[in-house]
Amino acid sequence: MAEVINGKSVAEDVVSKVKTLTAELLVKGATKPGLAVVIVGEDPASQVYVASKSRTAKECGFHSLQHTLPADTTEEQLLKIIGDLNADKSIHGILVQLPLPGHIDAGKVIQTIAPEKDVDGFHFINVGKLGTGELETAFVPCTPAGSMLLIERVRGKDLSGLNAVVVGRSNIVGKPMANLLLAANCTVTIAHSRTRDLPALARTADILVAAVGRPEMVKGDWVKPGATVIDVGINRVPAPEKGEGKSRLVGDVAYAETAKVAGAITPVPGGVGPMTIAMLMANTVASAYLAAGLKRPSF
Ligand code: GUN
Repeated sequence: MAEVINGKSVAEDVVSKVKTLTAELLVKGATKPGLAVVIVGEDPASQVYVASKSRTAKECGFHSLQHTLPADTTEEQLLKIIGDLNADKSIHGILVQLPLPGHIDAGKVIQTIAPEKDVDGFHFINVGKLGTGELETAFVPCTPAGSMLLIERVRGKDLSGLNAVVVGRSNIVGKPMANLLLAANCTVTIAHSRTRDLPALARTADILVAAVGRPEMVKGDWVKPGATVIDVGINRVPAPEKGEGKSRLVGDVAYAETAKVAGAITPVPGGVGPMTIAMLMANTVASAYLAAGLKRPSF
């Protein structure tokens, strides 16, 4: 049976380190880390995520600011708020929760965030730094950064010679994940909906990352024995066995059958999920260190 990678516990370690780093920053007389989270509209899932981000920021000892804006907020109003946050010295990280309402150009909004406050790692400057291997100064998107820490717990920091297959090519997870694995010396393949014979390709992977948003798509017989399997998916599916109208969370990996084959696997929930918020805190404290002219802490 595979080792179960406990993302909740690794995320707690990261948050605990962020708290210590924050306290040390204050001792040095620097400004406390400030995180601004902006949400537009009433999407219930987004509201839960944002509340959790703001709560964890407070727990870390940050200055935590939340802008909750109505769904009919104009693009111009949102850009003005971002401009003000860019200029605000008490703010080191700006996160605009996605998706945004259709009348707002999300790309334009993201590119308006100052790259040195872009703790989501979505600005072209940060995407470019990651793509060129400038990892010392890049902000890396939180979900792939967190997935990478989980992989390192199992495999160590140098992944030289290992075959990695990333299933999914999104800008938020698949592409940055592939770049991180490449920077760690893996041989990387990105698979997607047009890939031929995905099961055969997946079986070549020593590290298999599933980030497609399709419940239990990756099957046990797609997995090489001993592989490290990272499941980024969070899908809510009906669970009539729990009662009428009930649901449960599953990943992109068929967990029970895959756990029999893999060497290590992340569960859903409790795997990659908790790492995303922890890495947002890590990026924000790093930004505050850089703003104070101090060496950036690593995680
Ligand atoms: N919506 C879903 N995931 C994310 C994320 O990582 N960052 C932001 N800003 N919005 C999201």
